[in-house]
Amino acid sequence: MPARRHGESPGDRHQPKTRNLLEGGDRQKPGKSQPMSKIDPAALADEPLGRDTLAVRAGQVRGPEREHSEPIYTTSSFVFENAAQAAALFGEKEEGNIYSRFTNPTVRTFEQRLGMLEQAAYCVATASGMAAITGLVLSLLKPGDHVVVAREVFGSTLSLFNRIFGRFGIAITAAPVRELDQWRDAIRDETRLLFIETPTNPLCHIADVRALADLARESGARLVVDNAFCTPALQRPLILGADVVIHTATKYLDGQGRCVGGAMATNDAEVHDAFFGMMRTTGPSMSPFNAWVFLKGLETLSLRMARHGDNALALARWLREHPAVEAVFHPGLEDHPGHSLAARQQDGFGGIVSFRVRGDRAEAWSVIDATRMVSITGNLGDTRTTITHPATTTHARISQAERDQAGISDNLVRISAGLEDQADIQRDIARGLDALL
Ligand SMILES: Cc1ncc(COP(=O)(O)O)c(C=O)c1O
Repeated sequence: MPARRHGESPGDRHQPKTRNLLEGGDRQKPGKSQPMSKIDPAALADEPLGRDTLAVRAGQVRGPEREHSEPIYTTSSFVFENAAQAAALFGEKEEGNIYSRFTNPTVRTFEQRLGMLEQAAYCVATASGMAAITGLVLSLLKPGDHVVVAREVFGSTLSLFNRIFGRFGIAITAAPVRELDQWRDAIRDETRLLFIETPTNPLCHIADVRALADLARESGARLVVDNAFCTPALQRPLILGADVVIHTATKYLDGQGRCVGGAMATNDAEVHDAFFGMMRTTGPSMSPFNAWVFLKGLETLSLRMARHGDNALALARWLREHPAVEAVFHPGLEDHPGHSLAARQQDGFGGIVSFRVRGDRAEAWSVIDATRMVSITGNLGDTRTTITHPATTTHARISQAERDQAGISDNLVRISAGLEDQADIQRDIARGLDALL
């Protein structure tokens, strides 16, 4: 196993030089030799920049037109100077763009920016979050290998591991994300990956990333963290000791519900090389247009995450007092079991609130159906508040037993707090809850 770096604080590494980032520059001249999905070493810092600066500036390479905003390179392939250069590029003797299934400048800018925010040496964009998880497993695992996955993860992630990878001889054990002893017991000689989300979808359980990273290191496995709910604005899992970060860009990175995309970020060259090779051959790459949308999303990410968090916490506090509500789950509530851990490893509590209505599925559905403004949709991380019934939507395709284990009851409702006025969101949710009294 490659050496892991623990205990580094944000800002320890990969800080871009002010001059390079602020002036654009010539870091990717055609034909200039550099690994295309490695975060550009020329952008590493002697003068550290803050995360908000990186979010709007990092990764941009200004072209001959001196454009201010990043262009969208809508091209499937790239032209060579001559046959010898084509051979050099295809033969990996020279680095440069060949074909947009492999690399594309707009996608590359997104990878650089997200990679720097995650403090990763490498970042590879994918067509979706599920494509990033699939690519990771296909690149690192073989039949006979074993994965421990948090049993509370997103329903499709659980299905992917159990129903699809299981068919290819990869064994899975699901463990409760907060019970370290059960993770320790689940690990075998063949265990290659520990896979978690934190906070989990939808109940916002908080996993101890440092403790699980230590366990992974002791066991010769790698810790993978799906950072969908926090984004790098609130949590940098690699700094906490994780080996790989997975993103669904579809959620907060876009932030406006426009495109589907994903990414994998790591400091482990072995993981990167295997992953990039797999992506290049199998083809679930991100489109340049989507990459451009996500770039624009990253520019406002930290502002949005702060406001999502404020609206979610206010909603959680109000829901807790409502007589038609049985339980509320948001890590910002002081009595949430993961509150102090979240306060330690996150820079905010995030925008998701789930709650159990007093009653059953009919009562949960009636609260959802009574909304007039809030959008009934399975997506989250949008400027618009969204509401869903996890048991019959996001987690419908896992078994009843898996739902029971994960705490996805029929009276559970998930809200992704948007950026609207908090009073308007509250009034819309109150409509259905008040009618239950
Ligand atoms: C936590 C989490 N991870 C991964 C995914 C999958 O992402 P995508 O829809 O971009 O494939 C989702 C989608 O809802 C999610 O909520």
